[in-house]
Amino acid sequence: MEAILLVGGQGTRLRPLTISTPKPLLPTAGVAFLAHQLARARAAGVDRIVFATSYRAEMFEAAFGDRAYGVDLVYVSEDEPLGTGGAIRNASRALTCGADDPVLILNGDILSGHDVQAQVELHEKAAAEVTLHLTVADDPSRFGCVPTGEDGRVTAFLEKTSHPVTNQINAGCYVFRRSAIDTIPEDEVVSVERETFPSLIASGAVVMGYVEAGYWLDVGTPEAFVRGSCDLVLGKLASPAMPGDPGERLTLPGANVSPGAVVRGGTTVGRNAVVEAGATVLGSVLLDEAFVAEGATVRDSVLSRGARVGPGAILDGVILGDAAVVGPGNELRDGLRVWPGIELPATAVRFSTDA
Ligand code: GTP
Repeated sequence: MEAILLVGGQGTRLRPLTISTPKPLLPTAGVAFLAHQLARARAAGVDRIVFATSYRAEMFEAAFGDRAYGVDLVYVSEDEPLGTGGAIRNASRALTCGADDPVLILNGDILSGHDVQAQVELHEKAAAEVTLHLTVADDPSRFGCVPTGEDGRVTAFLEKTSHPVTNQINAGCYVFRRSAIDTIPEDEVVSVERETFPSLIASGAVVMGYVEAGYWLDVGTPEAFVRGSCDLVLGKLASPAMPGDPGERLTLPGANVSPGAVVRGGTTVGRNAVVEAGATVLGSVLLDEAFVAEGATVRDSVLSRGARVGPGAILDGVILGDAAVVGPGNELRDGLRVWPGIELPATAVRFSTDA
């Protein structure tokens, strides 16, 4: 089976991590995020993938070449971003399959444990034009929702509302009949979610919903990115691309974690990164050459390449850009982001939450 992988977005919600690296290439549990998707796609029977690139297009081919994880790879780039639908149409130039064959479409920022083969089987059995993976959200009011009829056919694509009619949401993995991709206008900005799916449904085409509520995460926000990396390390989602066994932490070659440090909760410690004695690092991502000094506490945070946390500093839910420095004694919390190269001096007085 062939697949198209959408990886052209700018990943604005993940800045500053995505200033230098596109979201799908961010190191996640020790390898590029996409490595997990490629390995899982291979396991589901995909043997050729067309990358639909735009933002920092050249970095994808440099990362994966023409074959990785047993999958042949081809790259098609947009001069101007064409949106999800336009990107699928543009990338379809490089498909080689027949008009009725199924093509898998993957969003480059979704971690999903769902059964792709079962989704394709439903698509074939129903002779559908498109079959969408739908997952079940605890709070569907945060998403648009996708109701289905008793026969499993999608009946509507509804915008976000405080009173959703169903808890089923679009999980961002589609099977298209090859010829259905040709109904998307060429060389235009098109959204599959806002335009293609609603118009297919309105025209009476068979659009099926494959509902499966297994592990699913959209890693588009900093909190979700950290969660996804930790879940892979902890083994909550099995990935053939994980460079090590699941456990409390993943320590990459050259990393130096003091026996006197506490590092757990699915934390990854990158190559040549250092965690000194007396430091605590919980549920975080330390990229290569990051440094956590003695007595510092880092929780639910990302330290980009070469970022440094000084003695006794506290970080909770924070993103440090490349080579950012947090001086001794600082306390940073709740979504704070420090841009690459910024240096916060040591605090004169230690901040205390009990004060
Ligand atoms: P934000 O800017 O933070 O919203 O992230 P994003 O740019 O990745 O957008 P979004 O999460 O909505 O995109 C979903 C998927 O579609 C991601 O895998 C994107 O890489 C991809 N994508 C979004 N827009 C385009 C586009 O214009 N062209 C291509 N090729 N891919 C796109």
